[in-house]
Amino acid sequence: MLELKTRKTQKTMEPEIGLSILDHALKNDVDWGFSCTRGTCARCRCYVAHGRELLSLPSDEEESRLEPEEIEQGYRLACQCMIKQAGTISATHKPYF
Ligand code: FES
Repeated sequence: MLELKTRKTQKTMEPEIGLSILDHALKNDVDWGFSCTRGTCARCRCYVAHGRELLSLPSDEEESRLEPEEIEQGYRLACQCMIKQAGTISATHKPYF
């Protein structure tokens, strides 16, 4: 199960392997702010509370856009992290502003 939360909504859906968190938000009409889809604007930034191990490893773009501490704490760029394995994943949209 994939749970996506924003300030206004909360939705659950079946995770699809190979799609990003942002792909899931867009497919399921979750109002998830984003802009570049290339890992540079960070508008899609999110906090992954559960299921970090079910996601792809941080991309080079995430490594350069996010602080190492943020990655360690569980922050990701939703356009960059792909579902790698089925399971329970929970992500909250956390843009900087
Ligand atoms: S949409 Fe720009 S970093 Fe994800």
